[in-house]
Amino acid sequence: MSIKTDWNNFQKLFFHDTETGLSLDVSRMGLDENFFAAMEKPMRKAFQDMAELERGAIANPDENRMVGHYWLRNSALAPSEELRREIDETFHKVLEFAAKVHEGEIRPERAERFTRVLSIGIGGSALGPEFVSSALETAQDPMKIHFFDNTDPEGIDHVLDEIGDDLPRTLCVVISKSGGTKETRNGMLEAQNAYDRLGLHFGRHAVAVTGKGSQLSKYAEANQWLAQFPMWDWVGGRTSELSAVGLLPAALQGFDIDDLIKGAAACDILTREHVIAKNPAALLALAWYKGSEGKGAKDMVILPYADRLMLFSRYLQQLIMESLGKAKDLSGNQVNQGLTVYGNKGSTDQHAYVQQLRDGVNNFFVTFIAVLKDRRGPSMEVEEGITTGDFLSGFWQGTRQALTESGRASMLISIPEVNAFTIGVLIALYERAVGFYASLININAYHQPGVEAGKKAAGKILELQKRVAEALKESGKAMKADELANHIGHDDPEAVFHVARHLAANSRLGVTADNLGAEARFVYDKKFDY
Ligand code: PA5
Repeated sequence: MSIKTDWNNFQKLFFHDTETGLSLDVSRMGLDENFFAAMEKPMRKAFQDMAELERGAIANPDENRMVGHYWLRNSALAPSEELRREIDETFHKVLEFAAKVHEGEIRPERAERFTRVLSIGIGGSALGPEFVSSALETAQDPMKIHFFDNTDPEGIDHVLDEIGDDLPRTLCVVISKSGGTKETRNGMLEAQNAYDRLGLHFGRHAVAVTGKGSQLSKYAEANQWLAQFPMWDWVGGRTSELSAVGLLPAALQGFDIDDLIKGAAACDILTREHVIAKNPAALLALAWYKGSEGKGAKDMVILPYADRLMLFSRYLQQLIMESLGKAKDLSGNQVNQGLTVYGNKGSTDQHAYVQQLRDGVNNFFVTFIAVLKDRRGPSMEVEEGITTGDFLSGFWQGTRQALTESGRASMLISIPEVNAFTIGVLIALYERAVGFYASLININAYHQPGVEAGKKAAGKILELQKRVAEALKESGKAMKADELANHIGHDDPEAVFHVARHLAANSRLGVTADNLGAEARFVYDKKFDY
């Protein structure tokens, strides 16, 4: 495809909306008239699929579920009165709860006020809150947020160290749609243990966001947690930022969640437009299709020139890759679809991998994201007539130009400034583009069989770990991994090696080793059995 600057083509393709301030330029993605003509029919189908989805069709057939994240910002669209009421009630409950926490009406066991939030969740129950927090946080926020988003003991200790003496003033928000995710359960138990050590009742410092009747919900109920907020099966984890999953942490931090919702709602209106040139999500999906040949042939690099948007690429990585990375299409054909997403921020990344983007392998397309207003107050001049923000703008423009000159495709998204409204716009824009793109390539964007498979595989490893530890204890013999595998009748000595080595490295269940290499001999030692 030919990548060049062309003023006429730019004017023809440049999308700008005055109300949201959103702009999109796909003129350097090689979209010519032939391409638009060829994609007209598939795009019509994508519009139709989306309209049916919004009306409450079973858009996630594998899980037999509706897909309703668009109703969260306009409950009137929800297909039943009951859902409309639940959406509205939850929004108001979030606002009311956050206000009571800020006013000290809901207070910790042994302090006047909650001043910190510890958000415990993973994947779709963490990435949205993390992104929104890093985009909007200020030093004046009523509560500072921390995250457990893994089951890494060192990571957990690090966060607890950061919270330090403020733990009695910290509110834990445990988020899990299924309510059974092990990483989140572990994080919750580790947090509970930290409160127990201070003689504090965990339930008086905890709230849950979870599905009705889930394990987490039952646990919260049984242990008298402060409150519970619902997650619905018609909201997917990666599209849950505008449900209680994202709204509760955001409201507690003092962000304007009404504006977040308004931004998304305004973008939803824009992206329901059926004229392609007037629909930024359709243009985006078509640019992805062209850029990756509709089969993930090239990677999507997300390069926001704004520190506040650095976690956007991480958020999008999940939204896009978990949605589009699928083995089969909706007709059951093996397609192994996907779209690889990576990136951090400019101009920082210009001093890292942008060298390869300009001169190396041409296996990507870049999305530059510019924020037009670079600071809320006035800026000093770092050179005559030039500010730091001028440099930032100069860097994205210069880098984009350099990429164009070496034939590398790119597009540009710009927003007027980073605030709750524009963050809502960006979230809704990409959610819709993912939905359109999924229709173009005929896949189910709303299930995640790979994630479920990973969860099951870990369970098997933990079973094996138990067998290995018991076998070493019972036999009392020193054994190499292959001997140990043989002893317990397991056909994979490498798997046995890794679990035994993990136990030995952590002096757990009495397992020790003479070294940690492949020839290691593992043996039970009572001294380490605690
Ligand atoms: O997007 C998804 O569906 C996943 O990433 C989930 O959010 C993640 O696995 C966490 O699941 P849960 O919220 O059920 O704990």
